Amino acid sequence: MGCCQCQGIENIFDEKSARKELKRYLKKGPTKTTGLLLNAIHKLGVNGLSFLDIGGGIGAIQYDLIKEGASNGTSIEASSAYINVVKSKMNQTGLAKKVTFKLGDFTTIATEEDAADIVTLDKVICCYDEMTQLVELSSKLARKIYAVIYPRDEWWTKLARPILNLYPKLRGSPFRVFIHPTKNVEEIIFKHGFTKQYYATTFVWQIAIFTK
Ligand SMILES: C[S@@+](CC[C@H](N)C(=O)[O-])C[C@H]1O[C@@H](n2cnc3c(N)ncnc32)[C@H](O)[C@@H]1O
Repeated sequence: MGCCQCQGIENIFDEKSARKELKRYLKKGPTKTTGLLLNAIHKLGVNGLSFLDIGGGIGAIQYDLIKEGASNGTSIEASSAYINVVKSKMNQTGLAKKVTFKLGDFTTIATEEDAADIVTLDKVICCYDEMTQLVELSSKLARKIYAVIYPRDEWWTKLARPILNLYPKLRGSPFRVFIHPTKNVEEIIFKHGFTKQYYATTFVWQIAIFTK
Protein backbone atom coordinates (compact mmCIF):
# COMPACT_ATOMS: atom_id res chain seq x y z
CA MET A 1 0.00 0.00 0.00
CA GLY A 2 1.33 3.43 -0.89
CA CYS A 3 2.27 5.71 1.99
CA CYS A 4 -0.28 8.27 0.72
CA GLN A 5 -3.03 5.71 1.34
CA CYS A 6 -1.64 5.17 4.88
CA GLN A 7 -1.76 8.90 5.57
CA GLY A 8 -5.25 8.96 4.10
CA ILE A 9 -6.34 6.21 6.50
CA GLU A 10 -5.25 8.33 9.47
CA ASN A 11 -7.29 11.29 8.10
CA ILE A 12 -10.44 9.36 7.30
CA PHE A 13 -10.50 6.76 10.10
CA ASP A 14 -10.01 9.35 12.83
CA GLU A 15 -11.03 9.52 16.48
CA LYS A 16 -14.33 11.25 15.77
CA SER A 17 -15.48 8.55 13.35
CA ALA A 18 -14.14 5.75 15.63
CA ARG A 19 -16.20 7.07 18.58
CA LYS A 20 -19.28 7.49 16.38
CA GLU A 21 -18.98 3.93 15.04
CA LEU A 22 -18.39 2.46 18.49
CA LYS A 23 -21.50 4.25 19.79
CA ARG A 24 -23.55 2.85 16.91
CA TYR A 25 -22.15 -0.65 17.52
CA LEU A 26 -22.90 -0.55 21.26
CA LYS A 27 -26.49 0.46 20.51
CA LYS A 28 -27.24 -1.71 17.47
CA GLY A 29 -24.56 -4.44 17.27
CA PRO A 30 -22.68 -5.47 14.11
CA THR A 31 -23.73 -4.10 10.71
CA LYS A 32 -25.86 -6.37 8.50
CA THR A 33 -22.92 -7.64 6.43
CA THR A 34 -20.64 -8.20 9.44
CA GLY A 35 -23.52 -10.06 11.12
CA LEU A 36 -23.86 -12.36 8.08
CA LEU A 37 -20.12 -13.06 8.12
CA LEU A 38 -20.11 -13.79 11.85
CA ASN A 39 -23.14 -16.10 11.70
CA ALA A 40 -21.49 -18.09 8.93
CA ILE A 41 -18.21 -18.32 10.90
CA HIS A 42 -20.10 -19.47 14.03
CA LYS A 43 -21.58 -22.35 12.03
CA LEU A 44 -18.06 -23.56 11.22
CA GLY A 45 -17.15 -23.50 14.95
CA VAL A 46 -14.92 -20.99 16.70
CA ASN A 47 -14.26 -22.61 20.06
CA GLY A 48 -10.54 -22.80 20.87
CA LEU A 49 -9.46 -21.25 17.56
CA SER A 50 -7.15 -18.26 17.19
CA PHE A 51 -7.91 -15.31 14.92
CA LEU A 52 -6.22 -12.51 13.03
CA ASP A 53 -8.49 -9.55 12.31
CA ILE A 54 -7.00 -7.17 9.74
CA GLY A 55 -8.36 -3.60 9.60
CA GLY A 56 -10.87 -4.47 12.30
CA GLY A 57 -12.04 -0.88 12.82
CA ILE A 58 -13.89 -0.61 16.13
CA GLY A 59 -13.44 -4.36 16.73
CA ALA A 60 -16.90 -5.86 16.10
CA ILE A 61 -15.39 -9.15 14.86
CA GLN A 62 -12.90 -9.33 17.73
CA TYR A 63 -15.49 -8.92 20.53
CA ASP A 64 -17.70 -11.49 18.87
CA LEU A 65 -15.07 -14.18 18.27
CA ILE A 66 -13.79 -13.94 21.85
CA LYS A 67 -17.33 -14.22 23.21
CA GLU A 68 -17.90 -17.23 20.94
CA GLY A 69 -14.91 -19.01 22.53
CA ALA A 70 -11.90 -18.14 20.36
CA SER A 71 -8.72 -18.80 22.35
CA ASN A 72 -6.87 -15.58 21.46
CA GLY A 73 -6.40 -13.15 18.61
CA THR A 74 -4.35 -10.48 16.89
CA SER A 75 -5.67 -7.21 15.59
CA ILE A 76 -3.63 -5.39 12.94
CA GLU A 77 -5.06 -1.94 12.29
CA ALA A 78 -3.60 0.99 10.35
CA SER A 79 -5.55 3.71 12.15
CA SER A 80 -4.18 4.75 15.55
CA ALA A 81 -7.55 6.27 16.52
CA TYR A 82 -9.45 3.03 15.84
CA ILE A 83 -6.94 0.75 17.55
CA ASN A 84 -6.95 3.00 20.64
CA VAL A 85 -10.74 2.91 20.83
CA VAL A 86 -10.74 -0.92 20.60
CA LYS A 87 -7.96 -1.26 23.19
CA SER A 88 -9.77 0.96 25.66
CA LYS A 89 -13.09 -0.85 25.15
CA MET A 90 -11.38 -4.25 25.58
CA ASN A 91 -9.62 -3.02 28.73
CA GLN A 92 -12.97 -1.98 30.21
CA THR A 93 -14.50 -5.37 29.46
CA GLY A 94 -11.50 -7.47 30.49
CA LEU A 95 -11.09 -8.91 26.97
CA ALA A 96 -7.79 -7.14 26.24
CA LYS A 97 -5.63 -9.95 27.65
CA LYS A 98 -6.82 -12.21 24.82
CA VAL A 99 -5.88 -9.83 22.00
CA THR A 100 -2.51 -8.62 20.71
CA PHE A 101 -2.80 -5.21 19.09
CA LYS A 102 -0.48 -4.12 16.28
CA LEU A 103 -0.66 -0.66 14.77
CA GLY A 104 0.40 -0.27 11.13
CA ASP A 105 -0.02 -1.39 7.55
CA PHE A 106 -0.67 -5.14 7.61
CA THR A 107 1.38 -5.81 4.47
CA THR A 108 4.45 -4.23 6.07
CA ILE A 109 4.24 -5.33 9.69
CA ALA A 110 2.67 -8.82 9.62
CA THR A 111 4.95 -11.81 10.30
CA GLU A 112 4.58 -15.61 10.44
CA GLU A 113 3.82 -15.19 14.16
CA ASP A 114 0.50 -13.59 13.22
CA ALA A 115 -0.70 -16.78 11.48
CA ALA A 116 -4.08 -17.82 12.89
CA ASP A 117 -6.87 -20.38 12.44
CA ILE A 118 -9.31 -17.68 11.33
CA VAL A 119 -8.29 -14.63 9.28
CA THR A 120 -10.84 -11.88 8.67
CA LEU A 121 -10.85 -8.82 6.40
CA ASP A 122 -14.14 -6.98 6.73
CA LYS A 123 -14.30 -4.13 4.13
CA VAL A 124 -10.52 -3.78 4.01
CA ILE A 125 -9.61 -5.11 0.54
CA CYS A 126 -11.27 -2.00 -0.91
CA CYS A 127 -8.82 0.19 1.06
CA TYR A 128 -5.82 -1.38 -0.71
CA ASP A 129 -4.37 -0.38 -4.04
CA GLU A 130 -2.01 -3.41 -3.88
CA MET A 131 -4.74 -6.06 -3.57
CA THR A 132 -2.43 -8.94 -4.59
CA GLN A 133 0.04 -8.24 -1.79
CA LEU A 134 -2.74 -8.02 0.80
CA VAL A 135 -4.66 -11.14 -0.23
CA GLU A 136 -1.50 -13.20 -0.81
CA LEU A 137 -0.09 -12.53 2.64
CA SER A 138 -3.37 -12.71 4.56
CA SER A 139 -4.53 -15.98 2.95
CA LYS A 140 -1.07 -17.46 3.54
CA LEU A 141 -1.45 -16.66 7.26
CA ALA A 142 -4.88 -18.36 7.48
CA ARG A 143 -4.76 -21.97 8.73
CA LYS A 144 -8.45 -22.93 8.54
CA ILE A 145 -10.91 -20.14 7.76
CA TYR A 146 -10.46 -17.09 5.54
CA ALA A 147 -13.41 -14.69 5.74
CA VAL A 148 -13.77 -11.53 3.68
CA ILE A 149 -16.23 -8.78 2.85
CA TYR A 150 -15.38 -6.62 -0.16
CA PRO A 151 -17.28 -4.74 -2.87
CA ARG A 152 -18.83 -6.62 -5.80
CA ASP A 153 -17.14 -5.75 -9.09
CA GLU A 154 -20.38 -4.80 -10.84
CA TRP A 155 -21.02 -1.81 -13.08
CA TRP A 156 -22.93 -0.02 -10.33
CA THR A 157 -20.13 -0.30 -7.75
CA LYS A 158 -17.58 0.83 -10.37
CA LEU A 159 -19.87 3.75 -11.22
CA ALA A 160 -20.17 4.66 -7.52
CA ARG A 161 -16.40 4.58 -6.90
CA PRO A 162 -15.56 8.10 -8.15
CA ILE A 163 -18.53 9.42 -6.18
CA LEU A 164 -17.33 7.68 -3.01
CA ASN A 165 -13.85 9.06 -3.60
CA LEU A 166 -15.25 12.60 -3.71
CA TYR A 167 -15.58 12.61 0.10
CA PRO A 168 -11.86 12.07 0.85
CA LYS A 169 -10.96 14.40 -2.04
CA LEU A 170 -13.10 17.18 -0.58
CA ARG A 171 -11.49 16.61 2.83
CA GLY A 172 -8.07 16.91 1.21
CA SER A 173 -7.25 13.30 2.09
CA PRO A 174 -5.21 11.03 -0.23
CA PHE A 175 -7.38 8.03 0.84
CA ARG A 176 -9.16 6.27 -2.05
CA VAL A 177 -11.54 3.32 -2.37
CA PHE A 178 -10.77 0.50 -4.87
CA ILE A 179 -12.96 -2.10 -6.57
CA HIS A 180 -10.83 -5.17 -7.26
CA PRO A 181 -11.95 -7.92 -9.67
CA THR A 182 -13.54 -10.85 -7.77
CA LYS A 183 -11.84 -13.33 -10.12
CA ASN A 184 -8.37 -12.00 -9.25
CA VAL A 185 -9.09 -12.00 -5.49
CA GLU A 186 -10.45 -15.56 -5.54
CA GLU A 187 -7.62 -16.92 -7.69
CA ILE A 188 -5.13 -15.99 -4.98
CA ILE A 189 -7.26 -17.52 -2.21
CA PHE A 190 -7.78 -20.79 -4.14
CA LYS A 191 -4.04 -20.97 -4.84
CA HIS A 192 -3.51 -21.21 -1.07
CA GLY A 193 -5.64 -24.38 -0.89
CA PHE A 194 -8.99 -22.89 0.14
CA THR A 195 -12.44 -23.75 -1.16
CA LYS A 196 -15.49 -21.50 -0.99
CA GLN A 197 -17.87 -22.54 1.81
CA TYR A 198 -20.24 -19.61 2.08
CA TYR A 199 -21.22 -16.78 -0.22
CA ALA A 200 -23.78 -13.99 0.10
CA THR A 201 -24.27 -10.59 -1.44
CA THR A 202 -25.95 -7.29 -0.73
CA PHE A 203 -26.33 -4.61 -3.37
CA VAL A 204 -22.77 -3.37 -2.78
CA TRP A 205 -20.92 -6.07 -0.84
CA GLN A 206 -19.93 -9.71 -1.24
CA ILE A 207 -19.44 -11.83 1.86
CA ALA A 208 -17.29 -14.92 1.29
CA ILE A 209 -15.89 -17.60 3.56
CA PHE A 210 -13.22 -20.03 2.43
CA THR A 211 -12.00 -23.08 4.35
CA LYS A 212 -9.15 -25.57 4.14
C1 LIG B 1 -13.82 0.49 5.90
S1 LIG B 1 -12.99 0.22 7.40
C2 LIG B 1 -13.70 -1.31 7.96
C3 LIG B 1 -13.55 -1.48 9.45
C4 LIG B 1 -14.17 -2.76 10.02
N1 LIG B 1 -13.54 -3.94 9.51
C5 LIG B 1 -15.64 -2.75 9.74
O1 LIG B 1 -16.12 -3.46 8.86
O2 LIG B 1 -16.34 -1.98 10.42
C6 LIG B 1 -11.39 -0.27 6.89
C7 LIG B 1 -10.46 -0.45 8.08
O3 LIG B 1 -9.28 -1.05 7.60
C8 LIG B 1 -8.17 -0.40 8.17
N2 LIG B 1 -7.07 -0.55 7.24
C9 LIG B 1 -7.01 -0.06 5.99
N3 LIG B 1 -5.85 -0.35 5.44
C10 LIG B 1 -5.15 -1.04 6.37
C11 LIG B 1 -3.85 -1.61 6.39
N4 LIG B 1 -3.03 -1.44 5.37
N5 LIG B 1 -3.44 -2.30 7.48
C12 LIG B 1 -4.26 -2.43 8.53
N6 LIG B 1 -5.50 -1.88 8.59
C13 LIG B 1 -5.93 -1.20 7.51
C14 LIG B 1 -8.62 1.05 8.33
O4 LIG B 1 -7.86 1.76 9.27
C15 LIG B 1 -10.05 0.85 8.76
O5 LIG B 1 -10.16 0.70 10.15
